[in-house]
Amino acid sequence: MKKYSILASVIIFMWACNGGAGAPSENDTSSASSANTSSSSSNTSASAEEDAKGIGKFTHVDLPATIDKSMVAGGQKIYDLKCSSCHHLDNTKLVGPGWKDVTERRKPEWIMNFVTNTDENLDKNATAQTLLEECMVRMPNQNLSDNDARDILEFMRNNDAK
Ligand code: HEC
Repeated sequence: MKKYSILASVIIFMWACNGGAGAPSENDTSSASSANTSSSSSNTSASAEEDAKGIGKFTHVDLPATIDKSMVAGGQKIYDLKCSSCHHLDNTKLVGPGWKDVTERRKPEWIMNFVTNTDENLDKNATAQTLLEECMVRMPNQNLSDNDARDILEFMRNNDAK
């Protein structure tokens, strides 16, 4: 019923337009399809942004231009204790990917969400799932606090500093 009345109004609308100039019905279809495209592309870009930031509480991480050495030192301790058995600091793979340039391939939000909410990201985040497919080992949750995660991020920034 509803379908028919929509169809009817479209036909009437097109017919009404056709009553005017040459071929305005072409314009009608193109504007209808471009409306579809823009709505679907805005969906895609929202999920692409979500994917790039990962799943978790960190939606916006502000990074100062200079590196905080005391945070780097905190990150180093965590790395030595909890991460070095699986991650090299250069670009070679151990159990997980080497950390060289990780701050360039990932947004700070993604890194902090991934290291504090590892399981959910491995289950649902496309980037994390691709890594899991490549490494074939599931990174265990490391029980990092928010501060630990920020220190680790600073340690990674320092490792990537040119
Ligand atoms: C038991 C091994 C293991 C330990 C320990 C481990 N990871 Fe991982 N990590 C992995 C694996 C494997 C991956 C790739 C994703 C997957 O397969 O789960 C990964 C991926 C990552 C990534 C994404 C790297 C990229 O290239 O995008 C980050 C960031 C990361 N780990 C941080 C940490 C931090 C921080 C610690 C320590 C607190 C840590 N990991 C400890 C195995 C580990």
